[in-house]
Amino acid sequence: MTENLFQTYQLNDTLSLKNRILMAPLTRCMADENLVPTNAMAEYYARRAEAGLIISEAVIIRPDGQGYPNTPGLFSDKQIAGWKKVTDKVHQQGGKIFAQLWHTGRVAHPHFFAHGELANARVLAPSAIAVEGSVPRMRELTYQVPKAVTENDIAKLIADYAQAAENALSAGFDGVEIHGANGYLIDQFLHYDSNRRTDNYGGNATNMARFPLAVVDAIIAKIGNEKTALRVSPGAYFNVVGDDRDRQVFDYYLSELEKRNLAFLHLGIFDDSMEFDYLDGKASSYLRAHYHNTLVGVGGYTAETASAAIADNKFDLIAIGRPFIANPDYVNKVKNKEELTAYSDEMLMTLV
Ligand SMILES: Cc1cc2nc3c(=O)[nH]c(=O)nc-3n(C[C@H](O)[C@H](O)[C@H](O)COP(=O)(O)O)c2cc1C
Repeated sequence: MTENLFQTYQLNDTLSLKNRILMAPLTRCMADENLVPTNAMAEYYARRAEAGLIISEAVIIRPDGQGYPNTPGLFSDKQIAGWKKVTDKVHQQGGKIFAQLWHTGRVAHPHFFAHGELANARVLAPSAIAVEGSVPRMRELTYQVPKAVTENDIAKLIADYAQAAENALSAGFDGVEIHGANGYLIDQFLHYDSNRRTDNYGGNATNMARFPLAVVDAIIAKIGNEKTALRVSPGAYFNVVGDDRDRQVFDYYLSELEKRNLAFLHLGIFDDSMEFDYLDGKASSYLRAHYHNTLVGVGGYTAETASAAIADNKFDLIAIGRPFIANPDYVNKVKNKEELTAYSDEMLMTLV
């Protein structure tokens, strides 16, 4: 029984979804050398237009946000034009698409951006604490000790997020999802492991949520709350280590987010069966209890388990990631009860 997945869903007065299945944001590292989306990417997204809403792979808001090869941007005219081809194709197929706006913070690597005019650019983060490890599949690129951002850096970052949101609408996107999850820049402010600041941006819940909320507010001011969504990871699981005190930060953050009337809030996690002591269980249950507007669940769900979770009011919409890589026609296959192709990591080598 998966019928409820095929109900329409009204996000707000401007946006209505034809079903409850979102394509989760999936980084594919296939943009060209100028970080411009290609025609192959336009075809890839258009093939998935049956989703109620596509969330694009994470898109960097400016060069120093880059932490992986060939991740697309949304800061140059060429990139905007490239994305316009993607959004046009998705719209021609009757789909809707949001851009996921990204800055990786301390997970960035200068290899990708510190040349030419930006030769002296540093990796930026809330505090000068490196994340352990190296860029995936590029082991020689170990993560660096970042520069702790100054108030000027923070003001510029907020302005650049807002500009990227405006660029997203110029490129024809239906809205944006701010990537506030998975241990990247915004999330780094919200966890004690990565935020050791003692100024207005650290040390307690109000201060630690100040930058994330400022980004949300700056984007809402540019494009409106109805086109603005956010992804959050209250449970630290990637690029950052959890701390019991993070709970207070997220309790406060969610109460503030609820007032913003976002298009939706989206959990950031790979496997939603994970439990977090400081959240008293699963991240999705914690969000449902502390945030009362539209919530998107994700992380290891099948159509059947997602349908049951929606029926049990665990969340309102489901984002599907890896199965959508393996099955461009995921939605129709589920609707027609056809067998799905299993996902495997080798599928990441090509854009089908
Ligand atoms: C190859 C790959 C790339 C991903 N890229 C992103 C990304 O760009 N932004 C993001 O927020 N999450 C990203 N994720 C996480 C997914 O959005 C999703 O949360 C995760 O795959 C769990 O859902 P699933 O079990 O349906 O695949 C990625 C996951 C995979 C497997």
